Amino acid sequence: MNLKVRKAVFPAAGLGTRFLPATKAMPKEMLPLVDKPLIQYAVEESIHSGIQNIYIVTGRGKSAIEDHFDVSFELEHLLSSRKKTELLSIVQGVSDMINIAYVRQKEALGLGHAVLRAKELIGDEPFAVVLSDDVIDSEIPCLRQLLDVYEFYGASVVALMEVPPDQTSSYGIVDAEPVEHNGAKSSLYRVRNMVEKPKPGSAPSNLAIIGRYILTPEIFKSIEQIEPGAGGELQLTDALKHLLRNRPIYGLKFEGTRYDAGDKLGFLKATVEMALKRRDLGTAFHEYLKTLKL
Ligand code: UTP
Repeated sequence: MNLKVRKAVFPAAGLGTRFLPATKAMPKEMLPLVDKPLIQYAVEESIHSGIQNIYIVTGRGKSAIEDHFDVSFELEHLLSSRKKTELLSIVQGVSDMINIAYVRQKEALGLGHAVLRAKELIGDEPFAVVLSDDVIDSEIPCLRQLLDVYEFYGASVVALMEVPPDQTSSYGIVDAEPVEHNGAKSSLYRVRNMVEKPKPGSAPSNLAIIGRYILTPEIFKSIEQIEPGAGGELQLTDALKHLLRNRPIYGLKFEGTRYDAGDKLGFLKATVEMALKRRDLGTAFHEYLKTLKL
């Protein structure tokens, strides 16, 4: 069994309707938190977790993502001629970050469908799936926490988070039992079942799947076998449920704070908290917030 996870798929072909009109001509993944696009936070998390290759699934109107991670000769030339060495190294750092390749999802037919687009690029090895609108601030990168579980069990792992009961209908929700560790319940779960966007009151728990996954390559067969589900889309949760029939799946309640930056309020919270943590901005921003006398 191959335990080394080298590749990550970044589905980024969604329409971002919750953020219209900002996302009419600009990919949601390029919205900046302070001064860095959402997708760059997720790329950095992947690099710090040991990922070597990233495959971004893009769609129409997403070329800004490709440009962001590409070399920008004009800009680099200008910064260099003006001796702006610090900015130059920031700009070059982005394009030198990691191997990134792109694959197209022609129509936004769901997260499962987006992941399936990367089948040929992944081949027969385990891989990560990262949704970059879930921004996770943690000491140990969230993906690394999941990889540690994968490397121990050799089975698929999803990131879990407790959500209030009135929000379960917005997520994939698991029915899961805690895995005991030295006789004590841990933050690791063995998944028994899962349901995408359960109707209010019918969720099997308040443990929601959020945008980080480690998957074994059998998931592609499962995606190919399921029918469109919630919203008429091929749902990754439905494929995971299919995979559960003959493969174990674990869920980890990870350590860290997750922001749903694809949602307006989540995005605002992330912006404020990230800005407060910045060494170059935090103090001044804090002083400013105090003047608002909320
Ligand atoms: P979301 O559920 O956030 O959908 O997708 P969305 O279209 O991006 O945004 P809203 O809900 O309309 O505002 C979760 C992730 O799956 C990707 C998205 O790009 C996002 O990273 N996705 C979704 C695809 O790549 N393709 C799809 O067909 C659907």
